[in-house]
Amino acid sequence: MASPGATGRSQPAPLSGEDPRLAQKRAAASAAAELLADGLRVGLGTGSTVAPLLPAIAARGLQGLRCVATSPATERTAVALGLRVEPLEDVGELDIAIDGADQVDPACWLIKGGGGAHTREKIVAAAASVFVVIVSADKPVPELRAPVPLELVPFGVQSTLRTLAPAELRAVPPSPDGGLIADYLGPVGDPAELAATLSATPGVVEHGLFGPEMVSLVLIGGEDGVQRRTGGRGAL
Ligand code: 5RP
Repeated sequence: MASPGATGRSQPAPLSGEDPRLAQKRAAASAAAELLADGLRVGLGTGSTVAPLLPAIAARGLQGLRCVATSPATERTAVALGLRVEPLEDVGELDIAIDGADQVDPACWLIKGGGGAHTREKIVAAAASVFVVIVSADKPVPELRAPVPLELVPFGVQSTLRTLAPAELRAVPPSPDGGLIADYLGPVGDPAELAATLSATPGVVEHGLFGPEMVSLVLIGGEDGVQRRTGGRGAL
């Protein structure tokens, strides 16, 4: 894998009148694309921060990249950009996965799943040796707060929601795997305790809490460049 290199150098300027978070997302995405090298097997996340990552990867012109997408939208865009996208089953283990997040706490606990893709995103992150999170400067928070995204089995979903209360279904289509997307709306408190409770609730396919042990590196785009925060998964 390429050396992470210095950060703070790839800071695409905000376009006139543009939400500054978009430039921050481009900066974090560009820094992540620089981590890649020829022949890597790469997991691609989902969302508006991954959106500029895909052209940044394509622009590197790397040879032999094999990509796995976490959503149909990411797959469509990646393929249109000329990236080779294959099923996770065909690629097997991944060298690196890169994805956005909704919140990042000081210990590198994440909330993900704003786009409802957290189940596939967690599977892809777990299949990768390195998981890099790319975010704009508004995503780091002192402590995680609801909503915590959920994917639920359709059977008995009202019963599952009562068990999880307060929780509600989102008015969105099911996931590509047939799960219903919902949000837990109660207090987060200790994220490890809540993650264990959610995982142990019958009917919950997956929740959007990602522990620091999954995270290798967080790249935070800001006005002064890209800040790095090391997660609990070891160095790149
Ligand atoms: C999708 C996700 C996204 O990574 C998360 O919602 C962040 O999205 P964005 O980059 O658009 O802010 O988990 O399921």
